[in-house]
Formats: sequence, structure tokens, C-alpha cells
Amino acid sequence: MTFDRSIKIAPSILAADFANFGAECEAIEAQGADWVHVDVMDGHFVPNISFGPATCAAIRPHIKGVMDVHLMISPVDPYIDAFASAGADVITAHVEAGPHIHRTLQAIRAAGAKAGVALNPGTPAEAVAHLLDLTDLVCVMTVNPGFGGQKFIDMTDKIRTLRAMIGDRPVHIEIDGGVDVKTAPSVAQAGADVLVAGSAVFRGGSVSDPAPYGDNIRAIREAAAGVYV
Ligand code: DX5
Ligand code: ZN
Repeated sequence: MTFDRSIKIAPSILAADFANFGAECEAIEAQGADWVHVDVMDGHFVPNISFGPATCAAIRPHIKGVMDVHLMISPVDPYIDAFASAGADVITAHVEAGPHIHRTLQAIRAAGAKAGVALNPGTPAEAVAHLLDLTDLVCVMTVNPGFGGQKFIDMTDKIRTLRAMIGDRPVHIEIDGGVDVKTAPSVAQAGADVLVAGSAVFRGGSVSDPAPYGDNIRAIREAAAGVYV
């Protein structure tokens, strides 16, 4: 994985056909997805259960590019090796998931993955002030995690603050939740470079009719680039 600040669209497979993850991952990559965002939920840290490391390992051969694993689980540390072995390129843990996020980020890097740290909407940017040299990605949640298809919560100020805090460090800013053609411009302008989108990418398409995925990805990318601003 090389670092740059160009806009990357990361479809969340939470909005894909769960009976067909392999084909869905191949379809979104063929349609222009930059990263594949994989949402892991435990029914404890968030009020929903999705899937775990075995599913990540099963879909890995169907992803050519970056597998971006977002852990909405607590505790995190006992499962880091399982997700790294499953082939995650990025493993993101929530700052709210336990008392030792610093140790968690060290452990993710030690397992050979890029380390991400996620912030719930109620958590300030300053929560990562002492973590920026240990992290490769800060994920700003623009919904309360747990479900796809929720309404976007404006976190523009937080994104700007983080962008200034990060400075020249090679740290991505990822936005997760309610990203679509309407909300992408403001987050991109504030300094985000990875845009997660579930419902806005998978809407209208399917494995047998994947062209709408491409239209949706292009529309979000162009919106973020300011074409429609
Ligand atoms: C929320 C997840 C998100 C979500 C994005 O808990 O982390 O990745 O599925 O889905 P949309 O784009 O539909 O809000
Ligand atoms: Zn996510």
C-alpha cells in the first residue's frame, strides 16, 4: 500500500448481498472501487452483528486491492492476529472500544497491518492527539456505528481539526457513514481522502447488473472532486 491523498472510494460490503460476498467484491473492484471496506460488528460494542475473521479470510482472494477492515468490536486485542491472518491490509479499531487504544495500534502494526483508529460522532478529534505517530488512518464516523443506510451527521469541523493535527504525516482521513453525492463534497473539502459508502454504491445494482455500481462510484468521486459543487 502506497500513501497518497487522492480521493479513494471504499464501498462497504455491509450493503452487498451477504450470500454473494466474493462476487460482490469482484464486481465493485471491476466497477472502479479503490478499497473494499469490511464492517465487523459484535453485537456488544454496537447493537448489530455482521461477521468475523473467517468471512474476511473467505473474501480475501476475491479482492485485488486494499481490504479495509473496520472493527466495531470490544475487546479488540484478542482478535487482531485473526484479522491480520485473514489478510486485512488495514485494521481499524475504535478509540471508544477499550482503555488501551495505544497498545491496540501497536499490536495491529506488529501483526503486519496498517493501523486505523476510528472516532464515534461524540468523540473529539483530540482523542487521537497522542496516537498520530502510531496510526495510518483516522476514521471519522459520520453516523453512530451499527447499521448501514443512516443519515449523515456533519463532522466537518472535526475533519478540519484532524487534517491540521495530522500535518505532513502519512495518515489517511476516512469518512464512514451516510456518504453520497450530496455529502461527499464537504468532507473532501475538509480534508478527507477515503470515502466509505455502502448504500450509495450498492443502490440500484447487483452482481448480474453491476453497471450501476460503477455509475454510483463515479458520481461520488466526481462530487468529491468538486464537479458538482
Ligand atoms: C456503520 C458502518 C458503515 C456503514 C456505511 O456502522 O461502519 O461502514 O455501513 O454505510 P452507509 O454508506 O450506508 O451509511
Ligand atoms: Zn465502516
